[in-house]
Order: sequence, then C-alpha cells, then structure tokens
Amino acid sequence: MRGLVRKGYDEGRYEEAYARGNASLDPFERCLCDELAARVGGQGKLLDLGCGVGLPYDRYFSEKGFSVTGVDISAKHVERARRNVPSGTFLVGDFFSEDVKGRFDAVVSFYAIFHIPREEHERLLEHVASLLREGGHILLTLGADDMACEVSEDFAGAPMAWSSYDAEKNKALVEEAGFDPLLVAEDYREERHLWVLARKR
Ligand SMILES: C[S@@+](CC[C@H](N)C(=O)[O-])C[C@H]1O[C@@H](n2cnc3c(N)ncnc32)[C@H](O)[C@@H]1O
Repeated sequence: MRGLVRKGYDEGRYEEAYARGNASLDPFERCLCDELAARVGGQGKLLDLGCGVGLPYDRYFSEKGFSVTGVDISAKHVERARRNVPSGTFLVGDFFSEDVKGRFDAVVSFYAIFHIPREEHERLLEHVASLLREGGHILLTLGADDMACEVSEDFAGAPMAWSSYDAEKNKALVEEAGFDPLLVAEDYREERHLWVLARKR
C-alpha cells in the first residue's frame, strides 16, 4: 500500500486538485486549528505526519509561532513544503520514521493516516503518544467509514489507496492509545472524515 500511495502522491496532482496552494484554512478547519493553537500556546513544538506540501496547515501553525516539523513519504511533497514554509523542518519518511526525534507539544495529521493499512492504526496512535510530552495534544483527521482497503485508479491523476475503521472504532482506538478526547466532529463537507482533538493523559 505504501508503494502505491508514495507513487500516487509523487506522480499525481494533489496540490493542484485540492487547491493546497491556497494558504487559507476553511472555517471548519480554522475553528479546530485555532482551538489546538489556543490550548498548546504559541511557542510549541508541533509535528505534522503526512504534511503534504505544507499548505495550508504548516504555514498556519508556523505563523502562529510554532516550531513545525513535517514528515511525508512523498519526496515531491516534502520539496514543496520546504519551499512553501521555509521556517519549518521537513523530512522524507514514513509516519514511523526514526528520524523524527524528540518530544512534541502537539502532533497533527490531516487526511493522511487512512493511507496505511488500518491494522497499523492502533500502533500508529501509540507511536504518536510516545512522541508527545505528557499533556500534549493531537489534532487528527481519521476515516469515518469501515473500509478494509479501497483503491482508486484516478485520484488527482494517479492510483491511490485508503484503509480505515469506522468512526466509533477510531474513537475507541484514540482513547485506548492514552488520549482524552476534547472535541470530536464528523465532517460532511465533501467526504466523511472524523476529526479528533485530544489530550494525552
Ligand atoms: C491527502 S494528502 C494530505 C496532505 C496534507 N496533510 C494536507 O492535508 O494537505 C496525504 C499525505 O500523506 C502522505 N502519506 C501517506 N502515507 C504516508 C506514510 N506512510 N508516511 C508518511 N506520509 C504519508 C502522502 O504522501 C500525502 O502527502
């Protein structure tokens, strides 16, 4: 799945198709990101897993004063993120990359976790918890539908794959990984997603 996803983002036109060059967050996303920023405070260390091209989120958090680190499996996206958000640190790598070191005040991940097999989601949430200081926060977009593995031949011009549990199971996984949910929202804007803002116990 990882090979297909990496190739899809390296060869597809995600940035153009999803208007990621437009640095503004929509009102729904802004509300959640503002809440995270207010809870963590301006100077926090923030990690973005599956950061894409760094827009709009990493630029937003960087402008709020956060020290931003992003990691993404697509070398093309990382190269663009470095250009789009010069103050950030961006690495080519997997969500589990050992090159990501240190303790963060917040870990975010938008529209990315459902690109690895769902059997790995529990371990990933535990890994996220291990990267956070006690009381640290997460803001994640997870899937909201039960989907073992779905493949599209044409997602922004290239093949792509997704895998997710439903919203109830995802909420349970977040809690079992050691987080207290603060705000959970199902998003019906275009596709169904589960947004979770939570605090490490
Ligand atoms: C839908 S895009 C979202 C990008 C960005 N978060 C945004 O919202 O614009 C998903 C991103 O996750 C990255 N990704 C997928 N699987 C990954 C993995 N196993 N490790 C790191 N990044 C991954 C992709 O390369 C892609 O940039």
